Amino acid sequence: MSSPTMEVVETTGGEMRNRKLAAWIEEVAQLCKPDKVHVCDGSPEEYQTMLRLMITSGTAIAMNPQKRPNSVFVRSNPADVARVEDRTFICAKTKDEAGPTNNWEDPAKMKDLLARLYNGGMTGRTMYVIPYSMGPIGSPIAKVGVEITDSPYVVANMHIMARVGTKVLDVLGANGEFVKGLHSVGAPLGPNDQDSPWPCNGEHKYICHFPDTREIWSYGSGYGGNALLGKKCHALRIASVQARDEGWMAEHMLILKLTNPEGQVKFITGAFPSACGKTNLAMLIPTIPGWTVETIGDDIAWMKFGADGRLYAINPEAGFFGVAPGTSMQSNANAMLSVTKNSIFTNCAMTPDLDVWWEGMTDKKPAELTDWLRRPWTPDCGRKAAHPNARFTAPAKQCPVIAKEWEDPKGVPIDAILFGGRRSGVVPLVTEAFDWQHGTFLGATASSETTAATTGKVGVLRRDPMAMLPFCGYNMGDYFGHYLNIGKKAGAKLPKIFYVNWFRQDENGKFLWPGYGENSRVLRWAFERCAGTGNAVDTPIGRMPSPNDIDTRGLDIPAGNLAKLLSVDVDGWLAEVPLIREHFAKFGDHLPQGMKDEVNKLEERLKKAKK
Ligand code: GTP
Ligand code: SPV
Ligand code: MN
Repeated sequence: MSSPTMEVVETTGGEMRNRKLAAWIEEVAQLCKPDKVHVCDGSPEEYQTMLRLMITSGTAIAMNPQKRPNSVFVRSNPADVARVEDRTFICAKTKDEAGPTNNWEDPAKMKDLLARLYNGGMTGRTMYVIPYSMGPIGSPIAKVGVEITDSPYVVANMHIMARVGTKVLDVLGANGEFVKGLHSVGAPLGPNDQDSPWPCNGEHKYICHFPDTREIWSYGSGYGGNALLGKKCHALRIASVQARDEGWMAEHMLILKLTNPEGQVKFITGAFPSACGKTNLAMLIPTIPGWTVETIGDDIAWMKFGADGRLYAINPEAGFFGVAPGTSMQSNANAMLSVTKNSIFTNCAMTPDLDVWWEGMTDKKPAELTDWLRRPWTPDCGRKAAHPNARFTAPAKQCPVIAKEWEDPKGVPIDAILFGGRRSGVVPLVTEAFDWQHGTFLGATASSETTAATTGKVGVLRRDPMAMLPFCGYNMGDYFGHYLNIGKKAGAKLPKIFYVNWFRQDENGKFLWPGYGENSRVLRWAFERCAGTGNAVDTPIGRMPSPNDIDTRGLDIPAGNLAKLLSVDVDGWLAEVPLIREHFAKFGDHLPQGMKDEVNKLEERLKKAKK
């Protein structure tokens, strides 16, 4: 490093053989002017150093080692608690390439603007360089990225969420390609400034993607997907563009392994919007005897065709960044058991004996807590103790039901894809697509009520195609086209596609379906449809089980609920048709003919059913 004030802490692994990387580090250091540069080696000692730094600076509090060894609490700034979709930009060459569902800015203009913010933006801080692999190191499906950040919280989280450090520099070699991710909390420190426990920038937040140059520039936020750049920014927004160019798929999907009592296995992915049940489904405990679910991934799937024409999926991540509220031994025991040690808890509440609590963890609320805003809390104080988007970060290998294949470099062959969302009305429990194009249509028209995973109003119904609305790095109309192209690949043996909705409610706002472990009953039906043994009836909206095609042994729900959940509300669907057309119209010329055909066919089938 040429800057005289800069002290370089090299990795134990030694040299930076990749010249492009070395030059980029130099360039960023010149711009951001940190006090120090630290190239991360990914060692356990480095992780401990990050925890100690965060504890010293007041960012973190060590948890009770008897209760939760090697774990910390972190409370963010209340203005920085979730992804910021309105501050997220796809800086493609043209607005048309970014499409109608993304914010766009000219790449040169955006870089100019951001370079001014980054200039001196790391003064008083250490600049960390994190080489990471999304996917098992050396997997032909995996990709390398490097995140530069001034946040020890990001370093610690990346240690859990991705494979990081010297071993990644080794696979990168002298000439390897990598995605460049630059992140700053946007809070430089003057010589007399006292650092805040959660530095961020209250004025400027930008989460920017440059798909043509495979770069990410994130400024002003330290939270979740805004800051852990390997996750949504790289593994979805940038990767979706690479996947389109190279004929594979980068999807916001969980991956699970479902085994029947005879020991036969199906691998299933599921795309549900943020905070709509991916983590829960990925590690559910089936209520039907003899069936097991094991976890491959809980948020992102990268899928590539194998030589046999099947789609093989890997989980590019190494940890879970999961929604805390609502997680309990009843709802998701495997998540609870994954976070017993070596975990980071962000915006959760703290018990007097330094353990963690959040809404829904226990039936009985603790008598006293410190809430996520560091205030004393009692059950009758009228406030939530944890933020609704409070999260745990935990190593995936700590999940008791992690599948033995979860790090298989070739991935697992996918039998079924589930799409879904949070819909209180109209959408039934499960529908099977007639074929791939119809399945693409089901995904493309998916809709869901918004959650606390993003800033803004909760409970607003919006289209969220394939749960990718906030994560598609290019024109969503072209993304539908890419799905159709995947379906046309010669020799492809495609997964079956299903649409599920665990969130249908009755007139009084009560869930009609108990969800969680009971979702295994729906998984069983999907398994049997894939195996060619399950029954289905054709309806105007797709193939559906009749109530007696679902395993209901031991299911305790009011009589009539299942029939309601599996009925087709023809008038309700007819009312959806113009809304689907309106949604599709946004994409103009980019909407593939196949999607127009599907909405017309849906309308015809519904009209016929009404006669
Ligand atoms: P992201 O990490 O934001 O992508 O969320 P996710 O899709 O992994 O959602 P997650 O599994 O964390 O669930 C989010 C919320 O939905 C939690 O509060 C869960 O308790 C709740 N939830 C999950 N599955 C079900 C279900 O089957 N039925 C009902 N009613 N709620 C569920
Ligand atoms: C989501 O919002 O879909 C998440 C959390 O998985 S974050 O990493 O913040 O994007
Ligand atoms: Mn997610």
